[in-house]
Amino acid sequence: MKNNNEQNSPAGGPSARNTDGTDVHGLRGTAGAGARKPYARPVIRKQYMGAANKFGGYSVPEPVLSIDGVSIAELVSKFGSPLFVYSENTLRRKVRELNQAFSSRYPSFQAAWSYKTNYLDAICNVFHSEGSWAEVVSGFEYLKARHNGIPGDKIIFNGPYKTYEILKRAVSEGARIHADHLDEIRDLKKISDELGRPVEIALRLNLDTGMVPQWSRFGFNLESGHALEAARIATSDGKLKIIGVHSHIGTFMYETGPYKKAADKVSKFYKQLREELSQPVRYIDLGGGFASKNKLKAHYKADCSWIPSFDAYAEAICDTLYENFPGEEPPQLFLETGRALVDEAGFLISSVAGSKMLASGQRALILDAGVNLLYTSTWYDLKVSPTQHYSGAWEDVILYGPLCMNIDVVREKCLLPNLHRGEQVVIHPVGAYNVTQSMQFIEMKPAVVLVSPKGEVKLIKRRETMEDMVAMES
Ligand SMILES: Cc1ncc(COP(=O)(O)O)c(C=O)c1O
Repeated sequence: MKNNNEQNSPAGGPSARNTDGTDVHGLRGTAGAGARKPYARPVIRKQYMGAANKFGGYSVPEPVLSIDGVSIAELVSKFGSPLFVYSENTLRRKVRELNQAFSSRYPSFQAAWSYKTNYLDAICNVFHSEGSWAEVVSGFEYLKARHNGIPGDKIIFNGPYKTYEILKRAVSEGARIHADHLDEIRDLKKISDELGRPVEIALRLNLDTGMVPQWSRFGFNLESGHALEAARIATSDGKLKIIGVHSHIGTFMYETGPYKKAADKVSKFYKQLREELSQPVRYIDLGGGFASKNKLKAHYKADCSWIPSFDAYAEAICDTLYENFPGEEPPQLFLETGRALVDEAGFLISSVAGSKMLASGQRALILDAGVNLLYTSTWYDLKVSPTQHYSGAWEDVILYGPLCMNIDVVREKCLLPNLHRGEQVVIHPVGAYNVTQSMQFIEMKPAVVLVSPKGEVKLIKRRETMEDMVAMES
């Protein structure tokens, strides 16, 4: 693009001017006697010369007019904006697909819903009604699972911080305790003394699956020998019995290979516990970590078809377990899948509060939902769709949230039609980790609704009010 000075030059180059403002021919410019036009720096705008250029093709998202048959306009008029919307159909479809992929390949499989991924009661109860146990990582989550009616013996208790009181209650109620460190093992022995009986536990391991960075902060490291040493310490006096081995190798694991390695290493450790330490091991828990159909910022491919299916993960894990337990019934298998079950079921409707042109020449939209509600926008390019059909040009805009904070950017660059104040977008998939990790900061939290398979809209969490905000203050 030309700058102002260039536009005055017949040859397209900068006009040569004398110091009195006349040009080399002694003529004054059209801008007025003696006035130089102020310099305006050139702005480069990327031109799309057809569907494909050397940066690859681009496509514009189809508008999202409704969610499971309920129109966006109706949802906003009833429940306001922003609004989280969950599809019960998708939740059920996903967990059934997971159960089918593993149960059809493996004799004894049990899913445990990862509470931290989304612990709204209504969401948890959809998974529980499909047979999932609860997997919790804190005293609060343990109480939430009990409040949802889950008996202790159907709760897997992970996490690095369990108070003595909650640990004792969980042990008494038969929960599966996954020990994270030696101090916890000491607590568990004390609980065994107090209860006057041995306590059954599982050990959490961390191990090298070839993924970088390696997750090593939770549980006991396998390759260094710490895990075996911890098992010896735990079982030396008969107060604790090891019945399971757990490993959660990471999150958004978009390859199946690391699960093969983990299943193999965990199986070998399991057999070592059984054969060398005579422990009554019964199960292997390979944690969560399956990728959802979301787009990591670091990934070039916008389409998520390359993300492994549940069948692909199941094939990798079950084959490896069978290889490790030839001629015998393999151990019970638990998974604590979180994001891959709930991410695609969650949508956030947000409204345009305003637009502006930045000094850089880029257009920006200000939304009523930002990083306060979209924790996962830090590493995903969340898909942002208009909610009606538009004709005309689409342009790259930057999407800001409502916070008076520089960090509040939902998308650095996002192709959208010419949206106006009061119009909506749908941000998707946002079902995993956003409701639980949303920040209580600057704005009050919005309502959450669940659309039932019959198309009924149920309010599963109401919008916060000023009374809520001050209720705990004095
Ligand atoms: C111990 C444990 N299990 C399960 C999960 C769920 O993981 P994801 O949501 O990646 O499936 C997590 C999450 O980090 C976890 O820490």
